[in-house]
Amino acid sequence: MIELGRFQIDLEMRTLQQNGKTVQLGSRAFDILAVVASANGRLVTKDELMNTVWPDTVVEENNIQVHLSALRKVLGPDRDLILTVPGRGYQLRQRRKDALPDETGVRASGGRASDVRAPGSQASGARRLPQPKSGLLGRGLAIRQIRAMLEQTHVLTLVGAGGIGKTSVAVEAAHHSSSDFAEPVCFVELAALTTGEAVLRAIVESCGLSVPGPQVDVEQVAAALARRHRLLLLDNAEHVIGIVAHIVEALVAGNDALRVLVTSREPLHIMPETVFRVEPLEAPPPHSTDADILRCSAVNLFLLHANSLQGKVGSDSAEIQLVGEICRRLDGIPLAIELAAARVVALGVEGVYRRLDDRMAILSGGYRTALPRHQTLRATFDWSFAILDHNARSLFRRLAVFGGAFTFEAMCAVVCDEAYTMANAIGSIGELVAKSLVSVEFDGPVAKYRLSESTRVYAMAKLQAEGEQEDITARHARYLPATRRSAA
Ligand SMILES: Nc1ncnc2c1ncn2[C@@H]1O[C@H](COP(=O)(O)OP(=O)(O)O)[C@@H](O)[C@H]1O
Ligand SMILES: [Mg+2]
Repeated sequence: MIELGRFQIDLEMRTLQQNGKTVQLGSRAFDILAVVASANGRLVTKDELMNTVWPDTVVEENNIQVHLSALRKVLGPDRDLILTVPGRGYQLRQRRKDALPDETGVRASGGRASDVRAPGSQASGARRLPQPKSGLLGRGLAIRQIRAMLEQTHVLTLVGAGGIGKTSVAVEAAHHSSSDFAEPVCFVELAALTTGEAVLRAIVESCGLSVPGPQVDVEQVAAALARRHRLLLLDNAEHVIGIVAHIVEALVAGNDALRVLVTSREPLHIMPETVFRVEPLEAPPPHSTDADILRCSAVNLFLLHANSLQGKVGSDSAEIQLVGEICRRLDGIPLAIELAAARVVALGVEGVYRRLDDRMAILSGGYRTALPRHQTLRATFDWSFAILDHNARSLFRRLAVFGGAFTFEAMCAVVCDEAYTMANAIGSIGELVAKSLVSVEFDGPVAKYRLSESTRVYAMAKLQAEGEQEDITARHARYLPATRRSAA
């Protein structure tokens, strides 16, 4: 969320709000606002704005004026927070409230445009490689594999659901691999960046490159990086996946010495890319012994966090069994497990266990210093949901009725109708799998899909909100006996 005077801009949901109420704003006007606000006080040139807001069309400059004046009208007394710099571009007078924490963990708070950060500051996305977490659990093998893969592949993308641990693994792997490279690792946090220009600038700053002129283009950056033996870590790419794909492809083309490690909920889908799926932490299967439960990394993460707040959690068998259940029902996702462990102080282990059905409500209150989308489980899913297209959203919420693994045929029988065709379903299931919202496994030649339990709870809430729950549940109920009859 970006604060702008009396307004809040939610880039993920693409809404402008005032006192919790959404304010109507045209889509182009919102794009302009998003680009200027995301630039964190940096001057956004007219060309940059036009290329971002109208990427596929050449438009007259006065188009900006038209939408900008609509925007200023909506902003009312806060209109002058968007400053016009005559002949040059536009600038925000205020900095983001939720800028990333710097190395000291202090959050940047509101400021004026005049305190635009010097190159290398975290406001632009370019930061020093964070220190690895001291308690990274259950990732030894993954770290060794990634280090070995970086010798072979030019682009390695760590892919997985939100909160599964991609950033943690990437940072740890980058520290382990740093001695394999002649130059220091460059780290770029992409979460707050929305344009190609901003991504390139962040890479330039992070790598300490010098490029001629005020504008930066990808060829210049590629030339500046040529023959440099270094590792570039681009963290959290999913919302700018197309932009990052183009940039990375151009940077590694003809540059044998450069390695790019990316974290994203979705692969880049470019030729030089190798995908590494980050798996959940290990959670115990049902009916495990106490000793087996205590060997699982997910359980250790839960106990580590719960005990740092409360002490003495997991000291008897009944509690160990409950912790095992909680971790399994949270699908071994570290973020969900951390959020659940934080609730032990108020609810106790049993209380957390009993309220798992209401997980979207109780799994909130993460670290204040975490990214906004990591502070609640719902926010993590909102971030993924916001970047789905209309058809993928329809399919996603309808899939909530499937409790276990399901086939493509079962899916079509339940979700398709006159408005939502099989062709829609084919495209959308691919998108949901790519974006790590649905997992796929193969039973011989047959693909079987599955939603994690938390994903399903989130999708069900969307289905209810859309008023489709009754209809889709009824279709699912009709489908089940039909398949049983044909199997008999
Ligand atoms: N293996 C792990 N051991 C301990 N904590 C972890 C582990 N993996 C992730 N975490 C914690 O879980 C949270 C989410 O992890 P993160 O790496 O940010 O996920 P992602 O990048 O996939 O969204 C963070 O607070 C992180 O410190
Ligand atoms: Mg991340």
